[in-house]
Amino acid sequence: MSSPFSLLAFATFFLVSMTREVGAQLSSDFYSSSCPSALSIINDAVTSAVSSEARMGASLLRLHFHDCFVNAIQGCDGSVLLSDTANFTGEQTAFPNVNSLRGFDVIGNIKSQLEKQCPGTVSCADIVAVAARDSVVALGGTSWTVQLGRRDSTAASLTDANNNLPSPFSDLSTLTSAFSRKGFSADELVVLSGAHTIGRARCRFFRARIFNDTNIDSSFASSAQQNCPSVGGDDNLESLDSVTSDTFDNQYFQNLVNLKGLLHSDQQLFNNGSADSQVQSYSQDSNTFLDDFGKAMIKMGNLSPLTGTDGQIRLECSKVNAS
Ligand code: HEM
Ligand SMILES: *[C@@H]1O[C@H](CO)[C@@H](O)[C@H](O)[C@H]1NC(C)=O
Ligand SMILES: *[C@@H]1O[C@H](CO)[C@@H](O)[C@H](O)[C@H]1NC(C)=O
Ligand SMILES: *[C@@H]1O[C@H](CO)[C@@H](O)[C@H](O)[C@H]1NC(C)=O
Repeated sequence: MSSPFSLLAFATFFLVSMTREVGAQLSSDFYSSSCPSALSIINDAVTSAVSSEARMGASLLRLHFHDCFVNAIQGCDGSVLLSDTANFTGEQTAFPNVNSLRGFDVIGNIKSQLEKQCPGTVSCADIVAVAARDSVVALGGTSWTVQLGRRDSTAASLTDANNNLPSPFSDLSTLTSAFSRKGFSADELVVLSGAHTIGRARCRFFRARIFNDTNIDSSFASSAQQNCPSVGGDDNLESLDSVTSDTFDNQYFQNLVNLKGLLHSDQQLFNNGSADSQVQSYSQDSNTFLDDFGKAMIKMGNLSPLTGTDGQIRLECSKVNAS
């Protein structure tokens, strides 16, 4: 049974897996000699985009999440930025992404500035990771050190996006297993969901909650119904955090405690279940939330990046380099 060949095959497989892990090391100073101005170019562009439209900070944060959370093999690889081609249908038309993801122009503008400054050096996946952090900071959150050195994918998958991104209609157990499949604990699900302290959602994603859920504050529900009727207005926007919609703070958790979560999935985190105590404690302690959020974002940014000579540095974020 265990012929020398199968042993060798096993050993090779094992070594390759190990190398993948080792190769996956990122570092915070990755561009310090190859493109010293990279971080300031990104920060300037994000700060200016967020000051002209606060919501852009939310959109850029979500872009990083949707980039990283898709593939089991390739995670934070800029795949979310790829337009469809003759060879593949990408992630942009996936159910959670279509007519929803924003910020592509901001990333494209940063990329063209970086191509002038340091051609072929800074990956799109890294730009998105840094832009997410700078967005949180621009909206009043706490900073974290972004690990760098990701490379960009040469393909993207619609199916993977549809299968991996969490649904706002899910219950706690489904959300917990979706995060667990990516190596995230239930605690990390809770802290990362705190991203919904900024940004907007469309009526289609919270209509059933504001009309049919019972674990909802009644005046919050009727006020949301003004802008999201039972029929029509599918794309009408509502703030995910109705109190401080453009500030990265712990208000989201206070809202959950007050039964004012906008998405069904949000309120699942405070629904007489196992996540209640963590939600309660974040609702009372902003600093702990902000610190834990940064740590969880670093972990999210580590989801199976392409490194070394894998993938490529795309010259334009929306398409694979011409060969
Ligand atoms: C826990 C599971 C999650 C679910 C079910 C979920 C679902 C959603 C939905 C349905 C929207 C509104 C999209 C639309 O109406 O077009 C949204 C927006 C948003 N999500 Fe999540 N999300 C989750 C986790 C996360 C995580 C982990 C992050 C980031 C770390 C995040 C960041 C955001 C942001 C910032 C927005 C607002 C985007 C904007 O205004 O452009 N979400 N999410
Ligand atoms: C599709 O893939 C082939 C083979 O890899 C490549 O030569 C071609 O340029 C790709 N087409 C597009 C539109 O990316
Ligand atoms: C609320 O639930 C009822 C009964 O299940 C269903 O017919 C109706 O479509 C739901 N309303 C919304 C807005 O989801
Ligand atoms: C939790 O259970 C209590 C007692 O049954 C109930 O009054 C309350 O509304 C529930 N809270 C949530 C968020 O479901």
